[in-house]
Amino acid sequence: MELAVVVLAAGSGTRMKSKLPKVLHEVAGKPMLSYVVDEALALKPKTVITVVSPNYQAIKDCFRDKVEYVVQKEQLGTAHAVLQAAPKLKNFKGDILVLYGDTPLIQAASLQELISFHRKTGAVATITTAMVEDPTGYGRILRSESSVVKRIVEEKDAGADEKDIKEINTGMYCFQSDLLFENLQKVQAHNKQKEYYLPDVVGLFGAENKLIESFEFDVEEIIGINSRHELAQATLIMYQRTIGKWLDNQVTIVDPLNTYIEKDVLIGPDTIIYPQTFLKGNTKIGKACQIGPGSHVNDCEVEDESKVVLSVADNAKIGAGATIGPYSHLRPGAKIGEKSKVGAFAEVKNSIIGAGSKIPHLSYIGDTDIEESVNVGAGTITCNYDGSKKHKTVIKKGAFIGSDTMLVAPVTVGKNAFTGAGSVISQDVPDEALGLERSEQKNIENYAKKRRS
Ligand code: UD1
Ligand code: CA
Repeated sequence: MELAVVVLAAGSGTRMKSKLPKVLHEVAGKPMLSYVVDEALALKPKTVITVVSPNYQAIKDCFRDKVEYVVQKEQLGTAHAVLQAAPKLKNFKGDILVLYGDTPLIQAASLQELISFHRKTGAVATITTAMVEDPTGYGRILRSESSVVKRIVEEKDAGADEKDIKEINTGMYCFQSDLLFENLQKVQAHNKQKEYYLPDVVGLFGAENKLIESFEFDVEEIIGINSRHELAQATLIMYQRTIGKWLDNQVTIVDPLNTYIEKDVLIGPDTIIYPQTFLKGNTKIGKACQIGPGSHVNDCEVEDESKVVLSVADNAKIGAGATIGPYSHLRPGAKIGEKSKVGAFAEVKNSIIGAGSKIPHLSYIGDTDIEESVNVGAGTITCNYDGSKKHKTVIKKGAFIGSDTMLVAPVTVGKNAFTGAGSVISQDVPDEALGLERSEQKNIENYAKKRRS
Protein backbone atom coordinates (compact mmCIF):
# COMPACT_ATOMS: atom_id res chain seq x y z
CA MET A 1 0.00 0.00 0.00
CA GLU A 2 1.43 3.36 -1.02
CA LEU A 3 1.41 6.61 0.90
CA ALA A 4 1.38 10.21 -0.29
CA VAL A 5 1.50 13.19 2.05
CA VAL A 6 -0.15 16.53 1.37
CA VAL A 7 0.95 19.39 3.61
CA LEU A 8 -1.18 22.53 3.64
CA ALA A 9 0.86 25.68 3.85
CA ALA A 10 -0.94 28.28 1.75
CA GLY A 11 -2.91 30.04 4.49
CA SER A 12 -2.16 33.71 4.96
CA GLY A 13 -1.72 33.38 8.71
CA THR A 14 -3.69 36.58 9.39
CA ARG A 15 -3.71 35.96 13.12
CA MET A 16 0.09 36.12 13.25
CA LYS A 17 -0.02 39.74 11.98
CA SER A 18 3.24 39.29 10.10
CA LYS A 19 4.78 39.80 6.68
CA LEU A 20 6.51 36.43 6.93
CA PRO A 21 4.41 33.45 5.77
CA LYS A 22 3.07 31.80 8.92
CA VAL A 23 4.68 28.42 8.26
CA LEU A 24 8.13 30.06 8.13
CA HIS A 25 7.88 31.49 11.63
CA GLU A 26 10.46 29.73 13.75
CA VAL A 27 9.81 27.24 16.49
CA ALA A 28 12.99 26.54 18.45
CA GLY A 29 15.17 27.95 15.68
CA LYS A 30 13.62 26.27 12.64
CA PRO A 31 10.64 27.22 10.45
CA MET A 32 7.57 25.43 11.79
CA LEU A 33 6.91 23.84 8.40
CA SER A 34 10.32 22.15 8.43
CA TYR A 35 9.31 19.95 11.35
CA VAL A 36 6.15 18.83 9.56
CA VAL A 37 8.12 18.13 6.37
CA ASP A 38 10.85 16.17 8.18
CA GLU A 39 8.37 14.03 10.10
CA ALA A 40 6.44 13.41 6.88
CA LEU A 41 9.61 12.39 5.02
CA ALA A 42 10.49 9.99 7.84
CA LEU A 43 7.43 7.96 6.81
CA LYS A 44 9.14 7.30 3.44
CA PRO A 45 6.10 8.29 1.38
CA LYS A 46 5.97 8.23 -2.42
CA THR A 47 5.83 12.02 -2.36
CA VAL A 48 5.30 14.99 -0.08
CA ILE A 49 3.24 17.67 -1.79
CA THR A 50 3.20 21.09 -0.19
CA VAL A 51 0.29 23.35 -1.04
CA VAL A 52 1.54 26.93 -1.11
CA SER A 53 0.27 30.40 -1.95
CA PRO A 54 1.49 32.11 -5.14
CA ASN A 55 4.29 34.03 -3.40
CA TYR A 56 6.05 30.95 -2.14
CA GLN A 57 9.63 31.74 -3.10
CA ALA A 58 10.73 31.93 0.55
CA ILE A 59 9.27 28.48 1.19
CA LYS A 60 10.94 27.10 -1.92
CA ASP A 61 14.30 28.56 -0.87
CA CYS A 62 13.91 26.74 2.39
CA PHE A 63 12.87 23.28 1.15
CA ARG A 64 14.13 23.19 -2.46
CA ASP A 65 13.45 19.75 -3.94
CA LYS A 66 12.78 17.95 -0.65
CA VAL A 67 9.08 18.33 -1.47
CA GLU A 68 6.84 19.01 -4.47
CA TYR A 69 4.93 22.28 -4.69
CA VAL A 70 1.36 22.96 -5.73
CA VAL A 71 0.10 26.53 -5.86
CA GLN A 72 -3.29 27.43 -4.44
CA LYS A 73 -4.04 30.72 -6.22
CA GLU A 74 -6.66 31.89 -3.74
CA GLN A 75 -6.99 30.74 -0.17
CA LEU A 76 -10.52 29.44 -0.35
CA GLY A 77 -10.17 26.94 2.47
CA THR A 78 -8.51 23.70 3.45
CA ALA A 79 -10.68 21.48 1.20
CA HIS A 80 -9.89 23.67 -1.78
CA ALA A 81 -6.20 23.50 -0.82
CA VAL A 82 -6.12 19.68 -0.85
CA LEU A 83 -7.98 19.64 -4.16
CA GLN A 84 -5.10 21.55 -5.77
CA ALA A 85 -2.93 18.45 -5.26
CA ALA A 86 -5.36 16.25 -7.27
CA PRO A 87 -3.61 16.63 -10.67
CA LYS A 88 -0.29 15.53 -9.18
CA LEU A 89 -1.95 12.49 -7.60
CA LYS A 90 -4.05 11.50 -10.61
CA ASN A 91 -2.36 8.13 -11.01
CA PHE A 92 -1.79 7.56 -7.33
CA LYS A 93 -3.63 4.72 -5.61
CA GLY A 94 -3.20 4.36 -1.90
CA ASP A 95 -3.52 6.36 1.29
CA ILE A 96 -3.23 10.10 1.52
CA LEU A 97 -2.06 11.64 4.75
CA VAL A 98 -3.07 15.29 5.02
CA LEU A 99 -1.11 17.44 7.45
CA TYR A 100 -1.35 21.14 8.27
CA GLY A 101 1.88 23.10 8.08
CA ASP A 102 1.09 24.88 11.34
CA THR A 103 1.26 21.84 13.66
CA PRO A 104 5.02 21.44 14.14
CA LEU A 105 4.93 19.22 17.22
CA ILE A 106 3.66 16.10 15.48
CA GLN A 107 6.03 13.13 15.45
CA ALA A 108 6.62 10.48 12.79
CA ALA A 109 6.09 7.62 15.26
CA SER A 110 2.55 8.80 16.03
CA LEU A 111 1.82 9.37 12.34
CA GLN A 112 3.01 5.85 11.61
CA GLU A 113 0.60 4.50 14.24
CA LEU A 114 -2.18 6.53 12.65
CA ILE A 115 -1.46 5.06 9.22
CA SER A 116 -1.27 1.49 10.52
CA PHE A 117 -4.55 1.96 12.37
CA HIS A 118 -6.22 3.41 9.27
CA ARG A 119 -5.07 0.44 7.19
CA LYS A 120 -6.14 -2.11 9.79
CA THR A 121 -9.69 -0.77 10.12
CA GLY A 122 -10.20 -0.21 6.39
CA ALA A 123 -11.88 3.14 7.10
CA VAL A 124 -12.44 5.52 4.17
CA ALA A 125 -11.19 8.29 6.41
CA THR A 126 -9.44 8.36 9.74
CA ILE A 127 -9.53 11.66 11.54
CA THR A 128 -7.30 12.49 14.45
CA THR A 129 -8.62 13.93 17.64
CA ALA A 130 -7.45 15.11 21.02
CA MET A 131 -9.21 15.84 24.29
CA VAL A 132 -8.29 19.35 25.39
CA GLU A 133 -9.18 21.49 28.39
CA ASP A 134 -9.68 24.57 26.23
CA PRO A 135 -10.99 23.71 22.75
CA THR A 136 -11.23 27.35 21.63
CA GLY A 137 -10.34 27.78 17.96
CA TYR A 138 -10.42 24.11 17.01
CA GLY A 139 -13.05 22.17 15.07
CA ARG A 140 -15.21 20.02 17.37
CA ILE A 141 -15.98 16.34 16.74
CA LEU A 142 -19.67 15.48 16.53
CA ARG A 143 -20.52 11.83 17.21
CA SER A 144 -23.74 9.84 17.07
CA GLU A 145 -25.25 8.28 20.20
CA SER A 146 -23.30 5.14 19.46
CA SER A 147 -20.23 7.32 19.36
CA VAL A 148 -19.65 7.05 15.61
CA VAL A 149 -18.00 10.12 14.05
CA LYS A 150 -20.60 12.07 12.09
CA ARG A 151 -18.96 15.37 11.21
CA ILE A 152 -16.73 18.17 12.40
CA VAL A 153 -18.00 21.63 13.21
CA GLU A 154 -15.72 24.65 13.14
CA GLU A 155 -15.55 26.99 16.14
CA LYS A 156 -17.08 29.85 14.16
CA ASP A 157 -20.05 27.77 13.03
CA ALA A 158 -20.63 25.91 16.29
CA GLY A 159 -23.69 26.41 18.48
CA ALA A 160 -23.31 26.91 22.24
CA ASP A 161 -23.69 23.19 23.02
CA GLU A 162 -21.22 22.22 20.33
CA LYS A 163 -18.69 24.68 21.69
CA ASP A 164 -18.72 22.74 24.98
CA ILE A 165 -17.32 19.67 23.24
CA LYS A 166 -13.72 19.11 24.30
CA GLU A 167 -12.88 16.55 21.63
CA ILE A 168 -11.23 18.49 18.82
CA ASN A 169 -9.99 17.94 15.28
CA THR A 170 -6.20 18.07 15.23
CA GLY A 171 -6.01 18.65 11.48
CA MET A 172 -4.33 15.40 10.41
CA TYR A 173 -6.23 12.90 8.35
CA CYS A 174 -5.75 9.66 6.49
CA PHE A 175 -7.90 9.13 3.42
CA GLN A 176 -8.33 6.52 0.73
CA SER A 177 -7.18 8.49 -2.29
CA ASP A 178 -9.97 7.89 -4.82
CA LEU A 179 -12.80 8.61 -2.39
CA LEU A 180 -11.08 11.73 -1.10
CA PHE A 181 -10.84 13.56 -4.40
CA GLU A 182 -14.30 12.47 -5.51
CA ASN A 183 -15.84 13.95 -2.36
CA LEU A 184 -13.68 17.09 -2.17
CA GLN A 185 -15.47 18.29 -5.32
CA LYS A 186 -18.77 18.14 -3.43
CA VAL A 187 -17.73 20.28 -0.48
CA GLN A 188 -19.63 23.57 -0.30
CA ALA A 189 -18.68 26.85 1.30
CA HIS A 190 -21.92 27.29 3.20
CA ASN A 191 -20.47 28.52 6.47
CA LYS A 192 -19.57 31.67 8.38
CA GLN A 193 -16.16 31.98 6.74
CA LYS A 194 -17.42 31.13 3.24
CA GLU A 195 -14.55 28.67 2.96
CA TYR A 196 -14.32 25.14 1.63
CA TYR A 197 -13.58 23.18 4.79
CA LEU A 198 -11.63 19.94 4.55
CA PRO A 199 -13.38 18.59 7.67
CA ASP A 200 -16.65 18.76 5.69
CA VAL A 201 -15.45 15.81 3.63
CA VAL A 202 -15.79 13.80 6.80
CA GLY A 203 -19.40 14.99 7.10
CA LEU A 204 -20.06 13.77 3.54
CA PHE A 205 -18.72 10.33 4.39
CA GLY A 206 -20.74 10.38 7.62
CA ALA A 207 -23.96 11.18 5.75
CA GLU A 208 -23.36 8.13 3.53
CA ASN A 209 -22.63 5.99 6.60
CA LYS A 210 -19.16 5.21 5.34
CA LEU A 211 -16.68 4.00 7.92
CA ILE A 212 -14.92 6.94 9.56
CA GLU A 213 -12.46 6.08 12.28
CA SER A 214 -10.83 8.37 14.80
CA PHE A 215 -7.37 8.16 16.26
CA GLU A 216 -6.49 10.03 19.43
CA PHE A 217 -3.28 12.04 19.66
CA ASP A 218 -1.40 13.31 22.67
CA VAL A 219 -2.40 16.95 23.19
CA GLU A 220 1.23 17.98 23.22
CA GLU A 221 1.69 16.90 19.62
CA ILE A 222 -1.19 18.67 18.01
CA ILE A 223 -0.99 22.33 18.97
CA GLY A 224 -1.95 24.34 15.90
CA ILE A 225 -0.16 27.65 15.66
CA ASN A 226 -2.39 30.55 14.75
CA SER A 227 -1.04 33.28 17.03
CA ARG A 228 2.24 34.29 18.63
CA HIS A 229 0.94 32.89 21.91
CA GLU A 230 0.77 29.42 20.40
CA LEU A 231 4.12 29.99 18.70
CA ALA A 232 5.69 30.64 22.10
CA GLN A 233 3.94 27.64 23.63
CA ALA A 234 5.13 25.31 20.87
CA THR A 235 8.67 26.68 21.11
CA LEU A 236 8.78 25.90 24.82
CA ILE A 237 7.51 22.36 24.26
CA MET A 238 9.97 21.77 21.41
CA TYR A 239 12.97 22.88 23.50
CA GLN A 240 11.88 20.77 26.46
CA ARG A 241 11.41 17.76 24.19
CA THR A 242 14.95 18.10 22.84
CA ILE A 243 16.37 18.62 26.33
CA GLY A 244 14.56 15.48 27.51
CA LYS A 245 16.21 13.51 24.71
CA TRP A 246 19.71 14.63 25.75
CA LEU A 247 19.05 13.99 29.44
CA ASP A 248 18.23 10.43 28.36
CA ASN A 249 21.49 10.33 26.42
CA GLN A 250 24.16 10.96 29.06
CA VAL A 251 24.23 14.74 28.82
CA THR A 252 23.99 16.88 31.99
CA ILE A 253 21.85 19.98 31.64
CA VAL A 254 22.07 22.08 34.76
CA ASP A 255 18.97 24.21 34.21
CA PRO A 256 16.62 22.73 31.58
CA LEU A 257 14.28 25.72 31.64
CA ASN A 258 17.11 28.08 30.71
CA THR A 259 18.87 26.04 28.05
CA TYR A 260 17.99 26.13 24.37
CA ILE A 261 19.07 23.27 22.15
CA GLU A 262 17.84 23.03 18.58
CA LYS A 263 16.68 19.75 17.15
CA ASP A 264 19.59 18.98 14.80
CA VAL A 265 22.34 19.55 17.38
CA LEU A 266 24.41 16.52 18.47
CA ILE A 267 26.01 16.21 21.91
CA GLY A 268 28.44 13.58 23.24
CA PRO A 269 28.12 11.79 26.57
CA ASP A 270 29.23 13.41 29.85
CA THR A 271 29.09 16.88 28.40
CA ILE A 272 27.69 19.46 30.80
CA ILE A 273 25.55 22.32 29.52
CA TYR A 274 25.31 25.29 31.88
CA PRO A 275 22.40 27.75 31.95
CA GLN A 276 21.61 30.44 29.39
CA THR A 277 23.26 28.48 26.61
CA PHE A 278 21.96 28.28 23.04
CA LEU A 279 23.12 25.40 20.86
CA LYS A 280 21.96 26.07 17.34
CA GLY A 281 21.89 24.81 13.77
CA ASN A 282 24.05 21.81 12.95
CA THR A 283 26.32 22.17 15.96
CA LYS A 284 28.15 19.03 17.02
CA ILE A 285 29.57 18.86 20.54
CA GLY A 286 31.95 16.09 21.59
CA LYS A 287 32.28 14.11 24.79
CA ALA A 288 32.94 15.59 28.25
CA CYS A 289 32.76 19.20 27.12
CA GLN A 290 31.59 22.07 29.29
CA ILE A 291 29.45 24.54 27.41
CA GLY A 292 28.17 27.69 29.08
CA PRO A 293 27.01 29.40 31.08
CA GLY A 294 25.83 32.06 28.67
CA SER A 295 27.20 30.71 25.42
CA HIS A 296 25.74 30.88 21.92
CA VAL A 297 27.10 28.18 19.65
CA ASN A 298 25.80 28.05 16.08
CA ASP A 299 26.83 25.58 13.35
CA CYS A 300 30.05 24.71 15.18
CA GLU A 301 32.06 21.57 15.67
CA VAL A 302 33.33 21.32 19.23
CA GLU A 303 35.65 18.40 19.94
CA ASP A 304 35.94 16.36 23.14
CA GLU A 305 36.79 17.94 26.51
CA SER A 306 36.59 21.54 25.31
CA LYS A 307 35.20 24.43 27.33
CA VAL A 308 33.18 27.34 26.02
CA VAL A 309 32.35 29.86 28.73
CA LEU A 310 30.25 33.04 28.26
CA SER A 311 31.13 33.17 24.57
CA VAL A 312 29.67 33.37 21.09
CA ALA A 313 30.82 30.98 18.36
CA ASP A 314 29.44 30.85 14.83
CA ASN A 315 30.61 28.44 12.11
CA ALA A 316 33.77 27.72 14.03
CA LYS A 317 35.70 24.59 14.86
CA ILE A 318 37.04 24.09 18.37
CA GLY A 319 39.66 21.38 18.82
CA ALA A 320 39.82 18.84 21.63
CA GLY A 321 40.65 20.21 25.04
CA ALA A 322 40.55 23.85 23.92
CA THR A 323 39.18 26.57 26.17
CA ILE A 324 37.17 29.48 24.85
CA GLY A 325 36.16 32.47 26.96
CA PRO A 326 35.03 34.06 29.06
CA TYR A 327 33.82 36.64 26.54
CA SER A 328 35.36 35.33 23.34
CA HIS A 329 33.85 35.75 19.90
CA LEU A 330 34.62 33.07 17.32
CA ARG A 331 33.39 34.15 13.92
CA PRO A 332 33.00 32.07 10.74
CA GLY A 333 36.13 30.21 9.73
CA ALA A 334 37.78 30.28 13.15
CA LYS A 335 39.57 26.95 13.61
CA ILE A 336 40.93 26.61 17.11
CA GLY A 337 43.49 23.82 17.57
CA GLU A 338 43.78 21.15 20.17
CA LYS A 339 44.42 22.46 23.70
CA SER A 340 44.51 26.05 22.43
CA LYS A 341 43.13 28.94 24.38
CA VAL A 342 41.12 31.95 23.29
CA GLY A 343 40.46 34.17 26.26
CA ALA A 344 38.69 37.26 27.47
CA PHE A 345 37.61 39.79 24.85
CA ALA A 346 39.40 38.05 22.02
CA GLU A 347 37.80 37.83 18.59
CA VAL A 348 38.94 35.32 15.97
CA LYS A 349 37.71 35.30 12.36
CA ASN A 350 38.70 33.14 9.39
CA SER A 351 41.90 32.03 11.11
CA ILE A 352 43.65 28.84 12.04
CA ILE A 353 45.04 28.70 15.56
CA GLY A 354 47.57 25.88 15.95
CA ALA A 355 47.62 23.32 18.75
CA GLY A 356 48.57 24.72 22.14
CA SER A 357 48.63 28.35 20.99
CA LYS A 358 47.17 31.03 23.21
CA ILE A 359 45.34 34.30 22.62
CA PRO A 360 44.43 34.96 26.21
CA HIS A 361 43.35 38.62 26.34
CA LEU A 362 41.89 41.52 24.34
CA SER A 363 42.89 40.59 20.79
CA TYR A 364 41.54 40.65 17.26
CA ILE A 365 42.87 37.89 15.04
CA GLY A 366 41.51 37.92 11.49
CA ASP A 367 42.62 36.15 8.28
CA THR A 368 45.58 34.70 10.15
CA ASP A 369 47.43 31.40 10.31
CA ILE A 370 48.94 30.84 13.71
CA GLU A 371 51.05 27.68 13.99
CA GLU A 372 51.56 25.60 17.16
CA SER A 373 52.76 26.87 20.54
CA VAL A 374 52.46 30.57 19.79
CA ASN A 375 51.75 33.05 22.56
CA VAL A 376 49.85 36.17 21.57
CA GLY A 377 50.25 38.95 24.12
CA ALA A 378 47.37 41.01 25.48
CA GLY A 379 45.97 43.62 23.16
CA THR A 380 47.53 42.22 19.98
CA ILE A 381 45.66 43.06 16.81
CA THR A 382 46.02 41.85 13.25
CA CYS A 383 45.40 44.87 11.05
CA ASN A 384 43.96 42.77 8.23
CA TYR A 385 41.91 45.40 6.42
CA ASP A 386 43.42 48.32 4.52
CA GLY A 387 40.07 49.89 3.78
CA SER A 388 39.49 48.00 0.56
CA LYS A 389 41.09 44.56 0.86
CA LYS A 390 41.72 41.93 3.51
CA HIS A 391 45.29 40.66 3.96
CA LYS A 392 46.80 37.66 5.62
CA THR A 393 49.01 37.37 8.71
CA VAL A 394 51.19 34.32 9.39
CA ILE A 395 52.71 33.60 12.80
CA LYS A 396 55.03 30.61 12.79
CA LYS A 397 55.59 27.92 15.36
CA GLY A 398 56.81 28.97 18.81
CA ALA A 399 56.66 32.73 18.14
CA PHE A 400 56.06 35.14 21.01
CA ILE A 401 54.00 38.21 20.16
CA GLY A 402 54.57 40.99 22.70
CA SER A 403 51.59 42.73 24.22
CA ASP A 404 49.89 45.39 22.14
CA THR A 405 51.58 44.42 18.89
CA MET A 406 49.89 45.71 15.73
CA LEU A 407 50.52 43.20 12.94
CA VAL A 408 49.96 45.13 9.71
CA ALA A 409 49.05 42.50 7.13
CA PRO A 410 50.29 41.08 4.88
CA VAL A 411 53.02 40.14 7.32
CA THR A 412 54.81 37.04 8.63
CA VAL A 413 56.40 36.51 12.02
CA GLY A 414 58.99 33.70 11.76
CA LYS A 415 59.54 30.57 13.76
CA ASN A 416 60.47 31.22 17.42
CA ALA A 417 60.60 34.96 16.65
CA PHE A 418 59.58 37.72 19.07
CA THR A 419 57.88 41.08 18.64
CA GLY A 420 58.47 43.81 21.17
CA ALA A 421 55.50 45.03 23.18
CA GLY A 422 53.78 48.00 21.57
CA SER A 423 55.39 47.49 18.16
CA VAL A 424 53.68 48.20 14.87
CA ILE A 425 55.03 45.35 12.76
CA SER A 426 54.64 46.08 9.07
CA GLN A 427 57.62 44.06 7.78
CA ASP A 428 58.24 40.34 8.08
CA VAL A 429 60.18 39.21 11.17
CA PRO A 430 62.70 36.44 10.31
CA ASP A 431 62.87 33.15 12.21
CA GLU A 432 64.47 33.48 15.67
CA ALA A 433 64.60 37.33 15.40
CA LEU A 434 63.09 40.11 17.53
CA GLY A 435 60.94 42.60 15.66
CA LEU A 436 60.96 45.88 17.53
CA GLU A 437 59.36 49.11 16.36
CA ARG A 438 59.40 51.55 19.23
CA SER A 439 61.11 54.84 19.99
CA GLU A 440 63.48 54.78 22.92
CA GLN A 441 62.16 55.87 26.27
CA LYS A 442 63.34 59.16 27.68
CA ASN A 443 63.04 59.92 31.43
CA ILE A 444 62.92 63.56 32.51
CA GLU A 445 64.36 63.71 36.01
CA ASN A 446 62.43 65.61 38.70
CA TYR A 447 59.64 66.40 36.30
CA ALA A 448 56.92 66.07 38.95
CA LYS A 449 58.73 68.38 41.36
CA LYS A 450 59.18 71.07 38.68
CA ARG A 451 55.52 70.84 37.76
CA ARG A 452 54.46 71.38 41.34
CA SER A 453 56.51 74.56 41.74
C1 UD1 B 1 -8.15 23.93 11.10
C2 UD1 B 1 -9.37 23.01 10.98
C3 UD1 B 1 -9.91 22.73 12.39
C4 UD1 B 1 -8.81 22.12 13.23
C5 UD1 B 1 -7.55 22.99 13.23
C6 UD1 B 1 -6.41 22.22 13.88
C7 UD1 B 1 -10.40 23.55 8.84
C8 UD1 B 1 -11.51 24.26 8.17
N1 UD1 B 1 -10.38 23.65 10.17
O1 UD1 B 1 -8.59 25.18 11.62
O2 UD1 B 1 -11.02 21.84 12.31
O3 UD1 B 1 -9.30 21.94 14.55
O4 UD1 B 1 -7.14 23.32 11.91
O5 UD1 B 1 -5.25 23.02 14.01
O6 UD1 B 1 -9.62 22.88 8.19
N2 UD1 B 1 -4.50 26.50 4.49
C9 UD1 B 1 -4.26 26.47 3.14
N3 UD1 B 1 -5.15 27.03 2.27
C10 UD1 B 1 -6.31 27.62 2.69
C11 UD1 B 1 -6.57 27.65 4.08
C12 UD1 B 1 -5.64 27.08 4.95
O7 UD1 B 1 -3.22 25.94 2.70
O8 UD1 B 1 -7.06 28.09 1.85
C13 UD1 B 1 -3.52 25.88 5.41
C14 UD1 B 1 -2.92 26.86 6.40
O9 UD1 B 1 -1.69 27.37 5.91
C15 UD1 B 1 -2.69 26.00 7.62
C16 UD1 B 1 -3.73 24.90 7.52
O10 UD1 B 1 -4.19 24.92 6.19
O11 UD1 B 1 -1.41 25.38 7.63
C17 UD1 B 1 -4.91 25.12 8.46
O12 UD1 B 1 -5.51 26.38 8.22
P1 UD1 B 1 -5.95 27.32 9.40
O13 UD1 B 1 -6.56 28.56 8.81
O14 UD1 B 1 -4.87 27.51 10.37
O15 UD1 B 1 -7.14 26.46 10.05
P2 UD1 B 1 -7.70 26.52 11.53
O16 UD1 B 1 -8.65 27.65 11.64
O17 UD1 B 1 -6.60 26.46 12.49
CA1 CA C 1 -4.38 26.40 12.32
